[in-house]
Amino acid sequence: MSLGHDILDRLFTWAATQTEGSFWMPVEASSGAGPVDRIFGFIFWVSVFFFVLIVALMVAFVIRYRRRPGREDAETSPRHNTALELTWTLIPIAIVVFIFVWGFKVYLDLNTPPANSYEVLVTGQKWKWLFTYPNGHVDEDLHVPLDTPIRLVMTSEDVIHGFYIPAFRLKRDVLPGRYVKVWFRAVRAGEYQIYCTQYCGTGHSDMWAKVVVHEPGGFERWLEEASNFLKTMAPAEAGEKLYRTRGCAQCHSVDGKGGTGPTFRALFGHAVPIEGGKTVSADEDYIRESILDPQAKIALGFQPVMPTFKGRLKDQEITAIIEYLKTLK
Ligand code: CUA
Repeated sequence: MSLGHDILDRLFTWAATQTEGSFWMPVEASSGAGPVDRIFGFIFWVSVFFFVLIVALMVAFVIRYRRRPGREDAETSPRHNTALELTWTLIPIAIVVFIFVWGFKVYLDLNTPPANSYEVLVTGQKWKWLFTYPNGHVDEDLHVPLDTPIRLVMTSEDVIHGFYIPAFRLKRDVLPGRYVKVWFRAVRAGEYQIYCTQYCGTGHSDMWAKVVVHEPGGFERWLEEASNFLKTMAPAEAGEKLYRTRGCAQCHSVDGKGGTGPTFRALFGHAVPIEGGKTVSADEDYIRESILDPQAKIALGFQPVMPTFKGRLKDQEITAIIEYLKTLK
């Protein structure tokens, strides 16, 4: 029931983002989409033309030269025809060279970011995308200004993911241990879907994000507001955002499921058995200590693998996370 609802919900989300695409193709929302579609269309129609031509000739010849009473043996035919052979060699060569030169030009354009590009760091991980802006703000959706070249510097924290924005005709694998760079210039304001196109595990089909193309001025306003979410959001809400964007979710579930670390569900205020046989109460100080000095008190049954967040989370952020944990009853 809930699965069916989920699928419907997604279909609607998907449909809502498909503004004015054709039956065949999603909307062309980046400067690179038009050139890619044109070359794709050209190759497609050349292929259709030769498919029809070759199949039609084949069928015609099969009918015309078939074996039948009065025609038991094949007629002798010329073994060589220079003009014909040159024609069927030179025309296809001209066509494929044309496709190569055209495609190579488009490929170079798509891979050479303009010098003044705005840079966003992209991190793929099981199972979401994170986008880091020049001012340090981390977001789960990609927000960009209209008509501005954007350069994405992408890497993965775990396995290979595939970064794909159909509306931008942009698709590139994101690999652990190296940086992959792409660029685009959005030419239509709106929201478009980002997918992962490499099967990366259980949550692969959940690895969705949106790219939001803002009208002039809107991007700056969004970034300003989003970067100040500690001031504008309720602490528990901000804490949830930090939980999702700062790596907590990788190891700590909020639904009671086991992970690398203990679940956050019903953690706050409860007694936690720790290594060494003692029990501590999970209050504000214990959580703060566990974030800044994770090795101090290891929850029983877990490995001491959590890195410290000293210097990576501000006091105000830690407080917000604690407030969020309080809501997970
Ligand atoms: Cu990430 Cu599939």
